[in-house]
Amino acid sequence: MKPKVFIAVSVPPEIEKYIAKHCDYRKWEGEGTIPQDELLKEVSNVEGLLIQGIKIDKKLLDHAPNLKIVSNVSVGYNNFDIEAMRDRGVIGTHTPYVLDDTVADLVFGLILSTARRIPELDQYVKQGKWKKSDETNLYGTDIHHSTLGLIGMGRIGEAIAKRGKFGFDMDVLYYNRTPKPKAEKELGVSYTHFKELLQKSDVIVLMTPLTSETANLIGANEFKLMKKTAFFINTSRGQTVDEGALLEALQTKEILGAGLDVYQQEPINPDHPILRLPNVVTVPHIGSATAKTRQDMVKVAAENLVKAVTGDKRQNIVKDLAYINPDKV
Ligand code: DGY
Repeated sequence: MKPKVFIAVSVPPEIEKYIAKHCDYRKWEGEGTIPQDELLKEVSNVEGLLIQGIKIDKKLLDHAPNLKIVSNVSVGYNNFDIEAMRDRGVIGTHTPYVLDDTVADLVFGLILSTARRIPELDQYVKQGKWKKSDETNLYGTDIHHSTLGLIGMGRIGEAIAKRGKFGFDMDVLYYNRTPKPKAEKELGVSYTHFKELLQKSDVIVLMTPLTSETANLIGANEFKLMKKTAFFINTSRGQTVDEGALLEALQTKEILGAGLDVYQQEPINPDHPILRLPNVVTVPHIGSATAKTRQDMVKVAAENLVKAVTGDKRQNIVKDLAYINPDKV
């Protein structure tokens, strides 16, 4: 008998076929995210679950006594209640590697858009405000040869560092829980203490996963330490930043601008005052959103799911649940 799984995300036909070959599956056919009551019914007899960002908490796990694996179509997994999953021996997998360069590209898109004011000046041209060729009020800030401060130096951090160092001749500082000597040697980046990094950087990129330690990592005190000319970029999770403090830092010119992919609440309320500021560039959580990369992520996540329910242990198990399979991650 094939293992039962539930697919809660939309997947292309070839992925569905692949899952069908190995599993007895049902899938969510409705619009948007599956409502919780529907999901609770669907998980009652499945061993595997394919999701994107849905909260996996005690309530869901209590409704899923046979569940062995939750496969997340994302690299971040702050939607997992790690303790609850660990208690029940449910593993969680994610999709590292395939999105690193795509997210790093977006980071540079945000850096350039913010420092060179591209969206603002795009509107300037389109609204017919452009009257003469050199207007000093259109000037932006150079990124090349400036100092990039990276908070979080995982694989995506390294891809950003590479672009900064070799593409833009930037001086790259980084802060990470553990120093990365290999990256220092290969990429010429320097480990810098948190506060010093905030004080010295022209562009600060927050790329840390959301955990209890990183929630609200950047707040009023941190913005005060930054240069008045600094640009702040967040492509991690909205909850790593105190959004009220960010708004204030931008309004009071504590920093010069911000580029945001993630928000405390997603989708962000269109009336949020931060959206009214000209020195903020926003995109709707699209770090990994290119057609190719999203396709690759779904493929990896489907493979993680199938491998786990068919007994092949070579999945991308998230490191906090790796103890369940210590030598297989
Ligand atoms: C992830 O995979 O965690 C990204 O945030 C998706 O863009």
